[in-house]
Amino acid sequence: MARLQKLIWALNEKLREDPDADIGDLLTTSRIDFDDCVSYAYVRESIGCNRNLIYDEPDLFRLTLNVWRPAAQNGMHDHGQSKCYFKVLCGKLVEIHYHVADIKYREGQVRPLIDKSTCHHMLNNDDGFSVSLHVYIPPFDRHDVPGGAAIPVTPSFVSRYGFPVDRNSRLLRANVFMA
Ligand SMILES: [Fe+2]
Repeated sequence: MARLQKLIWALNEKLREDPDADIGDLLTTSRIDFDDCVSYAYVRESIGCNRNLIYDEPDLFRLTLNVWRPAAQNGMHDHGQSKCYFKVLCGKLVEIHYHVADIKYREGQVRPLIDKSTCHHMLNNDDGFSVSLHVYIPPFDRHDVPGGAAIPVTPSFVSRYGFPVDRNSRLLRANVFMA
């Protein structure tokens, strides 16, 4: 947990100084692992990619923890006006692009930058659960439409700030990775 708090503090410091700062190195050098985030890792029986809100700094950044069931994938998407970075904390993930080759990530690897032009989806094709830590800069809450009004995006989470949104969200057992 101390390493998670340290990362949040460092992200705040760096992004307050420069909201366009590249935080890829910060994520890469951070020794944060799944144990640091285990109290945020909730899952639902019916959901493949379970998104957990860890921290929200309004207008600056958002930190989420995604818990991927085996064979889970999300739909094709972009990130609106937000940039995104992620680090794989457990298991493996594949990032599927539409114009470039797919990229495979294993534990400890960081996706350096998903910018506004990226359209992709992600897949856990491992046999077990995978977990990834995501940073959105700024929080992904709207799609800007050229010449039109911004479309609000309502993120759905299975937990917020370490608390389940309802009783269908269950804390993932830490030993699920120890099989
Ligand atoms: Fe994405």
